[in-house]
Amino acid sequence: MNKKYVAPPYRIKMVEPIKITTREERENYLRVAGYNPFSLRSEDVYIDLLTDSGTGAMSQYQWAALMMGDEAYAGSRSFYKLEKVVKQITNYQYVIPAHQGRGAEQVVLPQLVNKEGLYFISNMHFDTTRAHVEMAGARALDCVIDECFDTETYHPFKGNFDVIQLEKIINEKGPENIAGIIMTITNNSAGGQPVSMENMKKVRVIADKYKIRVLIDGARYAENSYFIKQREKGYENKSIEEIALETFALADIFLMSSKKDGLSNIGGLIVIKDDVDLYNKCRTYIVPMEGFPTYGGLAGRDMEALSVGLLEALEEDYLQHRLDQVRFLGDKLREAGVPIQYPTGGHAVFVDCQKFAPHIPYDQFPAQSVCNAVYLEAGVRPVEIGSFLLGRDPDTKENLKSPLELMRLTIPRRTYTYAHLEVVADAVIEVYKNREKLVGLEFDYEPPVLRHFTARLKPKL
Ligand code: F0G
Repeated sequence: MNKKYVAPPYRIKMVEPIKITTREERENYLRVAGYNPFSLRSEDVYIDLLTDSGTGAMSQYQWAALMMGDEAYAGSRSFYKLEKVVKQITNYQYVIPAHQGRGAEQVVLPQLVNKEGLYFISNMHFDTTRAHVEMAGARALDCVIDECFDTETYHPFKGNFDVIQLEKIINEKGPENIAGIIMTITNNSAGGQPVSMENMKKVRVIADKYKIRVLIDGARYAENSYFIKQREKGYENKSIEEIALETFALADIFLMSSKKDGLSNIGGLIVIKDDVDLYNKCRTYIVPMEGFPTYGGLAGRDMEALSVGLLEALEEDYLQHRLDQVRFLGDKLREAGVPIQYPTGGHAVFVDCQKFAPHIPYDQFPAQSVCNAVYLEAGVRPVEIGSFLLGRDPDTKENLKSPLELMRLTIPRRTYTYAHLEVVADAVIEVYKNREKLVGLEFDYEPPVLRHFTARLKPKL
């Protein structure tokens, strides 16, 4: 098969116009936005690659399902439909919806922290997961394999746990002080990198040995399952559903931001294998936090759309095209010499900006500078995942240095064409050719927490 790319398994029935702007206009928009793409109006963005979260296109079946929403406060028919689908996919017993991933986190994580000095260990915590671990009074430790930080070298499962390190941490901190092991699949923060089944099985063995519960942070579990099918021996002939079931069998709790592999614009899930005590605690706690346990902050119609989207996200021709789009963009950039996290992951191409702009020091945010230049070039909005996002040390107040300075080009699901991705590639390549002209940034206004969302910056001239 000598194919340039995998063509989409859908055709377009409705279009959303997007505006092409001039460079002069973009210079003005970016200045007004304080050199922070988060503050741009989406209207002024041509191709929006800020996130793949809630930004995908729904199918005709999902739009039709919206009409079936039962908006009852309690016992909604739409909830029971969702519950049935989620049980089928996971083989877990208890399902509670939440308004999005962090809604699920804020309900479940505090239930698992019953004393001081507890730790969660993950291959890599996503930001909001880390925040909720800390807000619950525990600490979040990451233990991903070293290959994850070597962006150039191929490894099929860069999201894997370093299992030796995992066991070492458990012994160091004491198994009784580990509140849970969180398998983040795919590993968003390091490039949407997958975790292998073999690795997850090893994690389960260690968890059993020390009697520690295992959670899946599975916003992109379907993409992870597809990577396993493609790259792991013994899974070539299994269906995505089978691989997903095998994955869920290795954990006790599944937390999901269903704005990703739920193919929905909003939604989250708390799914519990069989721990009825935990289920009852979550059911009680969710009422003041998210809403009654049969809606958890979602409208009945949202639950309908999600019930359909969850199944569509497991379809193989969908996943094949989805992951191929990401690969296509990654290949274009690599061919032009742009340094990226290789191989590309499931939802985004991560450009290594330490290598892209080595002349900009970490505390002048090289990846943010590249993001801004890409916006100026073609109206494409990427997002920084590096030292700008990481923030400051809570004690010393120094800027923390991120191990990776990344620009994430996040691909929304079923939304852009290969032609759009060519525009993105051309823009990034053009900026790369002129990379020595890039300058660092300094703060005009720095908020005390989660600064990357609302900070204002200016070029350091
Ligand atoms: N876990 C992972 C792995 C995520 O990527 C996200 C969100 C969440 C949890 C939280 O879910 O947004 O629905 O509350 N990731 C988005 C992103 C925001 O852009 O990567 P949420």
